[in-house]
Amino acid sequence: MTAHATVRGDVAVLVPAAGMGIRLGPGGPKALRLLGGEPLLVHAVRRLALAPSVGCIVVAAPADAVDDVAALLEPVAPVTVVAGGATRQASVAAALAVVPPSFEIVLVHDAARALTPPELVESVAEAVRGGHGAVIPVLPVVDTIKRVADSGIVVETVERSPLRAVQTPQGFRRDVLVKAHEAAVDEHTDDAGMAERIGIEVYTVPGADAAMKITRPFDLAVAELLL
Ligand code: CTP
Ligand code: MG
Repeated sequence: MTAHATVRGDVAVLVPAAGMGIRLGPGGPKALRLLGGEPLLVHAVRRLALAPSVGCIVVAAPADAVDDVAALLEPVAPVTVVAGGATRQASVAAALAVVPPSFEIVLVHDAARALTPPELVESVAEAVRGGHGAVIPVLPVVDTIKRVADSGIVVETVERSPLRAVQTPQGFRRDVLVKAHEAAVDEHTDDAGMAERIGIEVYTVPGADAAMKITRPFDLAVAELLL
């Protein structure tokens, strides 16, 4: 399938998991909410650890749960746990700061995408290894998209064919991710957006349905069915 031999363990993965999960409703930080009896973060880390390229996992946990999260993940995979920040971006930066210098490829993966298959991790890592400085997994948009005014009135129908929905893991050459974070002045919901801002070409690979983000209760119900 691939011409390149996989270099085992040359990839570090940062896992922002410090969010509150407000949109999921009451029940504590989202990464610790249960899916099939296990925390979302456990599902996510287990799948990352199954990807042969992954040699280092750093989790950004809620600041008051660092020890609990380390204990929770201890039987799952070798991980480093740091305290996350007030925003996703700050959590990613905190995790990035402790990645050992030997890792030149760094992926960023939301704990909320708990069922992401290891194959997607491999395909993003492979694209970075192949020379792309920034790589994101994407899916075609299936719904018709319209721009709507505050009044509720449709302004226009947006041409759908060039649009893509973006997932994680997003992969970077380490120097690109470091520069993107250093240069970021405003808040971004993804890391590739920061790389775009500093003029880095962002390459896309096909995403995976199972890499869906668990955001609302409906998503958790869908994820239970997928499991
Ligand atoms: N995240 C983080 N630190 C923050 C905010 C978010 O590490 N300060 C992480 C979340 O834990 C999640 C990922 O970023 O794995 C994507 O964020 P999102 O899906 O928005 O999760 P939450 O912020 O927890 O959810 P909500 O926005 O509904 O509160
Ligand atoms: Mg959020």
